[in-house]
Amino acid sequence: MYACVKCDAQSSKWLGRCPECGGWGTVVENGSTPSAAGGGISPLRRQGGDSAARGGLGRARASSPLSQAAGPEHRARLSSGDAEADRVLGGGFVHGSLVLISGEPGIGKSTLVAQIAGSISSERRAPMAVSRQLSAVSYQPSGETRRAGASPPPNAERRTIYVSGEESARQLADRFARLASSGDGVRFLEPFPVETLVATLEKEKPAFAVLDSVQTLTSDALDATAGSPALVRYATGLLLDLAKRTGITILLVGQVTKDGSVAGPKTLEHLVDAVLTLEGDAAHAYRLLRATKNRFGSTDEVGVFEMTARGLKAVENPSARFLKERAAAPGSVVTGAAEGSRVFLVEVQALVERAAYGTPVRRASGFDGNRLQMLCAILSKRGGLKLGDQDVYVNVIGGLELREPAADLAICAAVASAVRGTAAPEPVLYVGEVGLGGEVRSIPFLDRRLAEAKRLGITRAVVPAKAAKSVDGMNVAGLANVGQL
Ligand code: TYD
Ligand code: MG
Repeated sequence: MYACVKCDAQSSKWLGRCPECGGWGTVVENGSTPSAAGGGISPLRRQGGDSAARGGLGRARASSPLSQAAGPEHRARLSSGDAEADRVLGGGFVHGSLVLISGEPGIGKSTLVAQIAGSISSERRAPMAVSRQLSAVSYQPSGETRRAGASPPPNAERRTIYVSGEESARQLADRFARLASSGDGVRFLEPFPVETLVATLEKEKPAFAVLDSVQTLTSDALDATAGSPALVRYATGLLLDLAKRTGITILLVGQVTKDGSVAGPKTLEHLVDAVLTLEGDAAHAYRLLRATKNRFGSTDEVGVFEMTARGLKAVENPSARFLKERAAAPGSVVTGAAEGSRVFLVEVQALVERAAYGTPVRRASGFDGNRLQMLCAILSKRGGLKLGDQDVYVNVIGGLELREPAADLAICAAVASAVRGTAAPEPVLYVGEVGLGGEVRSIPFLDRRLAEAKRLGITRAVVPAKAAKSVDGMNVAGLANVGQL
């Protein structure tokens, strides 16, 4: 058999060009490269081979008590220096973990990892800054001051290495300057072949290493192009092994393309301990950081950031920010989106316009287009709104993506409001799932959504009838179906 080193496509004969990924000269005979042997997971293979040689039965091993395993590894977590990122990680990095951060190009991955590296490496200087301040205030004799100002002993706990194949040391230093982070304690490393890199990290033993990005790694042992799935998997396997063996915490950056296909972090997700994704619309300032996989914490947390001229800043009060410019115009309503344990209030807008020709369009930005189509059909059939010859556009403000069915009612309300040309004078919160029969169904976290609305001074809410309840200081209306809407 022959296999493509780039995409793993199999074929029974040699081909100059891979029919799957279109790569030239990437098809090789199975067994002729280490990629066919599975690369980074060789230690396991070796064990397997061992037992196979003994006629299929392995040698017996002793199990060991789990409590013995809790040793020095069980240390406190390593804080990323950013409260939002720490929350998403489940309280900071677990020592010796391998974390992948992925996202589309230009979304801010390098910015975020540089901020984290800068703050991890410099945290040791916090006590020193204090002593310097104290000495400045109390005018200690000069000897005392000098001692306070002397550079602190290198702290192995915070030693940080930044491996960048995307930027030169110079560019990286510029980035740190832009982020107003000195990056003093950060050491730079060119990306060597991954085998050399692993040996170097093992020798230098930093507490924390950043690798930007996994697609730039090459290999001495594996004959595959940088960024190919086989190589990316192999390199990640080696790094995972390194992290577990030495306790070095490694943060890997992985690029995803718009269609999510090429050289994917997707292929790495089962290897690494946690996968963080940074998402958002590059045209908007807001970025959401979520854990899509986390061996050491929940995947429920999200962090909200804003891209500023000085890097990513946590957004203190996301709901207030998302609603800031809301106008009481027809077609505009407010909904509460639950993201993990948090609720964000966002504005949903709709525009309904007579179709110029042919089939009317239903277009959504920040909401699933198919679901919008379904909701339009429900509004026509069950709600008596004639949308058959109308174009419907829906937009979620702030570049946010509404994925929950709980947003259904808000979409319906925005469309209905746009059709009627009426606007509520004050903001009204709409939350509820809408079924095909036009019924408005209960949703999770209703209390939290109402509480967040109340906190922001919204006094009126429309919720599923079955779940309606009275809330102090709020006027909550229950709705059984879209006809009532
Ligand atoms: P970057 O982190 O390089 O993205 P990625 O590594 O995900 O490809 O940053 C992307 C964008 O962020 C870039 O176009 C410029 C912008 N940016 C800022 O607006 N402010 C900043 O302080 C920095 C460092 C970048
Ligand atoms: Mg980058």
